[in-house]
Amino acid sequence: MKTLATLAVAAVILGASLPASADGVLTANYGGQITETADGWRIEFAVRDGGIRAWVRDHGDKPVAASGKATLLVAGKKLDVPLKADGEMLAADAGVASADKVAAILSLTVNGKPISARFGQEALVVPQLSAQAGAGKAAFEQACAACHGAALRGSDAGPPLLHAFYSPGSGHGDDVILAAAANGAKAHHWKFGDMPKPEGLKPGQEKDVLAYIRAMQTANGLGGAAAMPASMPMDHSGHMKH
Ligand code: HEC
Repeated sequence: MKTLATLAVAAVILGASLPASADGVLTANYGGQITETADGWRIEFAVRDGGIRAWVRDHGDKPVAASGKATLLVAGKKLDVPLKADGEMLAADAGVASADKVAAILSLTVNGKPISARFGQEALVVPQLSAQAGAGKAAFEQACAACHGAALRGSDAGPPLLHAFYSPGSGHGDDVILAAAANGAKAHHWKFGDMPKPEGLKPGQEKDVLAYIRAMQTANGLGGAAAMPASMPMDHSGHMKH
C-alpha cells in the first residue's frame, strides 16, 4: 500500500506542474505561458513590448469571454492595468518590455465568477556574442524581429524562438531553422498563421541568424535536450506532438 500512496502523491505533483489536456500536454496557442485553473479554465499569458496579452479558453480549448485586470510587478514597480477584449485576446498597454523580468497576477471574471492566475518571466540574458552571432543579431533585427520580437520572445505576429520547441536538441534542428529563414514556414504549431519567406536576408546570412538564435537560447536556459520537459511527446519526425 505504501507504493500506491507514493504513486498517488507523485501523480498529484505531476498534475500540478503539468496540467493535462487531451494529449497530455497543455498547449499554448500564441507561444505564451499557460496554466489551468482548478475549475478547468486555461489561461495563456504573454508579455509584449509595451503591454501584455492573455487568452482564456475552457477545458475543451474553446475561447471564452473574460474581463478583468492585471497586476504587474516590473522593475520593483507595481502596475494595475485594465484588460480590454480584442477578439479572442485580452490586451493591456503597460510600461513593460518582453525582455523584462515580470511577475503578473491576472484577476478575471469568467462566466460571472472570479478567477486568478499568476505568471512570471525572468529578465532576458544577452550574452557576449561571437562575430558570427553578432552579425546574426543585426540580420535578425532587420528580418525576423518584427514577428519573433527583438527579445526573441514573440510578438502579436509570431511565436517566441526562446522556447523549448525550438531549442537545441528539440524537434527543430538547425536544418529546420535554416529552412524557415530561407523559405518561411507553414503554420503548424501556433495560431499566428503561416510564416512568409523573410525579406532582406542575403544568401548565407541564415547561418549567422542561426548562430544568434542558438547563442540566445543557450544564454537563456534553453541549452539542450535536458532543458526540455521529458514528458513532451515526440512524433516520428522528432516534432513535438500537440
Ligand atoms: C511576418 C512574420 C514573420 C517573420 C518576418 C519571420 N517569422 Fe518565423 N515564424 C512566423 C510564424 C507565424 C511562425 C509559426 C509557424 C507555426 O505555426 O509553426 C514562424 C516560425 C518560425 C520557425 C519555426 C519553423 C518550423 O518549421 O517550425 C523558425 C525557426 C522561424 N520562424 C525563424 C525565423 C527567422 C530566423 C526569421 C528571420 C530570418 C523569421 N522567422 C521571420 C512569423 C515570422
